[in-house]
Amino acid sequence: MIVIKTPRQLEQMRVSGGIAARVREAVAACVRPGVTTAELGDYAAELIGKEGARSAFLGYHGYPGQICVSVNEEVVHGIPGKRRIEMGDIVSLDVGVLYDGFIGDTATTVMVGVVEPETIRLVQVTEACLAAGLAKLVSGRRLSDCSHAIEQEARAGGFTVVRKFVGHGVGRQMHEDPQVPNFGRPGRGPKLRAGMTLAIEPMLNAGRHDVRVLNDGWTAVTRDGSRSAHFEHTVAVTDDGCEILTKV
Ligand code: MF3
Ligand code: CO
Ligand code: CO
Repeated sequence: MIVIKTPRQLEQMRVSGGIAARVREAVAACVRPGVTTAELGDYAAELIGKEGARSAFLGYHGYPGQICVSVNEEVVHGIPGKRRIEMGDIVSLDVGVLYDGFIGDTATTVMVGVVEPETIRLVQVTEACLAAGLAKLVSGRRLSDCSHAIEQEARAGGFTVVRKFVGHGVGRQMHEDPQVPNFGRPGRGPKLRAGMTLAIEPMLNAGRHDVRVLNDGWTAVTRDGSRSAHFEHTVAVTDDGCEILTKV
């Protein structure tokens, strides 16, 4: 069941989305060589607290971190820990907050200093995939138009799309209906309606699409060790497009 949000609920989601976006940007600004992923997680926890919000991730199915920090070959769900950021790395930060009963879920991928040209392209194409997907979110169209646009953009860039994880509806719950794959044929799935709120989140790999989960039970990595990038916005479908709720 897809939950349509009322104007008042959309206003609440604008607030949680804004908080998530500010935390995302503030933590992104701290990513540099020598910093550990635990330090990034601790800083995020402090900022989320100062906003009067709570992490939507901590304790979710037992997840032990406040945010997800995924470096290089780590695709998503990296647990903040001892890993030290190095020059040339790419670092995905995924922030989810709960405020006033609603969730904002957003991610970005930060490049650290001088990065290989092919890695820069991976990050840029992934961000372009997110934009291409959002451009298809208009009331009256079908959801898989968004999925298809993301896949097309990724293929054109020569990268693969992760199939094991998908975007999703978001609201009072972090993962609501519908699922939003980052691939698929157009013209399928539910019809988009104003007031639907979705987390659109392309994950692209430089090599093959396959992923596996490490022994920590969470960290998803590329099977072939290639690098992976991830961008995510929480958006609301409107009559003439979509509104990004996780913008600063
Ligand atoms: N924020 C992730 C997503 O985009 C989910 C994180 S799961 C958690 O869907 F357990 F790490 F919280
Ligand atoms: Co997320
Ligand atoms: Co999400």
